[in-house]
Formats: sequence, structure tokens, C-alpha cells
Amino acid sequence: MITTEPRIDIQPIGTSRIATTDLENLKFGRVFTDHIFTMDFVDGAWQRPVIRAYEDVAMSPATLVLHYAQTIFEGMKAYKNERGEVSLFRPQANIARMNRSAARMAMPAIPEDVFLDGLKELVKMDAAWVPDGKDAALYIRPFMYADDEYIGVKPSDGYRFAIFICPVRGYYQEPLRVKLELEYSRAFPGGTGAIKCGGNYAGGLYPSMLAQKQGFHQLLWTDAMEHKYIEESGTMNVFFIIDGVLTTPSLDGTILPGITRDSILQLARDKGMPTAERKVSVEEVLAAAKAGKLNAAFGAGTAATIAPIQAIGHAGGVIDLPEPGADSEVMKIGAMLDDIRRGRAEDKHGWMVRAS
Ligand code: COI
Repeated sequence: MITTEPRIDIQPIGTSRIATTDLENLKFGRVFTDHIFTMDFVDGAWQRPVIRAYEDVAMSPATLVLHYAQTIFEGMKAYKNERGEVSLFRPQANIARMNRSAARMAMPAIPEDVFLDGLKELVKMDAAWVPDGKDAALYIRPFMYADDEYIGVKPSDGYRFAIFICPVRGYYQEPLRVKLELEYSRAFPGGTGAIKCGGNYAGGLYPSMLAQKQGFHQLLWTDAMEHKYIEESGTMNVFFIIDGVLTTPSLDGTILPGITRDSILQLARDKGMPTAERKVSVEEVLAAAKAGKLNAAFGAGTAATIAPIQAIGHAGGVIDLPEPGADSEVMKIGAMLDDIRRGRAEDKHGWMVRAS
């Protein structure tokens, strides 16, 4: 049985680094706030969590995660509303997904109440770091890794779970050019495509690098068996508006169940827009584009939120899509999401969880 000592040992730092940090010119994921939450799993039990100064980690060269990638993570955000209050967006959904990732990677579940308390406390302590301005947020990175000093292949006995925060602005600076990937695969049936483990991302680096050399930002991943159906785009879920229907690949075990994905579908249904979650073939998307019925395409994820796709590269050439204007369905859904996060619209689904 997993036991926990939930009370967090809080050790605030003396002097914040914020005064010497440029919050105006942030590069995504390169700036870190003052504190980190950590909790270790030792002898079958989670130990007392601590929040203390963000600092480097020293580890043995034999630490298990460095060899066999037994590691998982989450990406989530906290936003400042117009009253200056900072709230997490759907943290319970990230917590549940992290624990599904943990189960698939033979790692211990994290007690949900301790996880949520840790998130709220950490965000409250570093709330001054939320930048001002459109797209500004705290990007929160919970992660867990195997920390046994052992290079035999087995699930680790010990783990470290930690949460740190990056103040961020936008992720992509421009509409995306994506390339259909018909050779390499991101995920396969029975694999780990539906969870957030480090290996999924490492395996995508080489094919993405090849696409970047050809002038694309990212890949449009297709299924591993036939390369016939579209699955994701880069590190995001993907949506198409085909003849007015907001369409996205159904979650079949190889696709990450994105929280932004789910929120977009919900908001589209709320506003009466037709939606479809189903298999989406490459052929169909190319045919819709040719017939002028592909109204828009975009990626959706925590880091990027909504990233319009401007061009799709395929064997026969490049399809150019019109840049979505402010009155396009894509931008309207993005604005609905933003209004909830900034407290300008009613939070009907109870998505925002106050931290400060
Ligand atoms: C996210 O959108 O949170 C992701 O997981 C993408 C990330 C790897 C930066």
C-alpha cells in the first residue's frame, strides 16, 4: 500500500530572481521561477513533499532514467485573470492523465490531493512570475523519473516526482507549415502514444529535423500500420474544419488525449458547431483541400494552445490554407477559451482552479 505524508514542507527562498529576469522577451521553456516542488518515492511510499529553491539535480551516471527512459511528464498552464487572480486550467485532468502515464510506465500513482495541493501552493508562491499580456501564462511542468542507481532493466524502486514552472508567452510565432509523414511513426497500437512519456518525443526528433530541413515547422503524423490516417501534428493534437465540421482524429490508443483538444470540442459543441471525432484519412483531407472544402487546419496543445496551419506538404506538393481571420471559427474558439481563462466569460464547466 502507498502511504503519504501530505503536508508540504515549505521553504521559501530569501530573494526572488524576478527583479533580474527579463519577462518581456521570454523564450519558451528557458526561464524558470524561484521554486520547485519535489516528492520522493522510497521503500514503497511517497515521502514528505518539499517546496524549495529551484536548483540543479545531481545524479549518478547509473541513474535508471538516463538509460531506459522510465520518465513521464505533463504540461499545464496557469493564467492571471483581469482581477489579478491566478488560476490553473483543468489541473485535475492533467493529474488523471499523469497517473495513466504512470500506470503504463510501471511507475507509482501520485496521490491526487497531494499533487493538486502542490500545484496550487507552488503557483501561489510564484504567482508574481505570471507575465502580463496576451498569451502570457505560467507553463507548469510536472514530471517523474526513475532514480534507482542501477542499470539492470526493471522498473525502478525509487522515483522523484517534481513540478517546476516557466513563465511563457506564445509557443509558435507564426502559422505552421507541416509535412505529412509517410515513413516514420510516432506511435503504434499497443505502444505509448496515448501517454506522455519522454521516449515519444525523443523518437520524433529525427523525422522532425528532416522536415525542418525541408522548410517545415512540424510533421503531420500518420498511423504506423498504413500511413493512411492522420493522427497528430508535431507535439499537438490536430483539427480540420471540413465543410464546416470541426473534425479531429478519434482517440484510438495511439493519440494523446489532449486537454486542449477536449476543451476545444466542448466549446465548439457549446456554440452549436458540428463536431466529429473519427478516423481522418490523408486522402480525404487532400481531396477536401482540392474541392475548396478544407476551411481550416490547426494544432492544439497546452504549450501552443491553438496553432493555425498555413501549409501542408505532401508527395504531390504543398497545400496552402488561408490565414484564419478574427471572425473565423478557429479564432472564435480560441477567443472563447481565452475569455474563460482570463475571467471574461462564465466558467460553465468549472475548468479554472484558483491558486492565488
Ligand atoms: C504541451 O503542449 O504541453 C506539450 O506537451 C508540448 C511540449 C512538449 C512543449
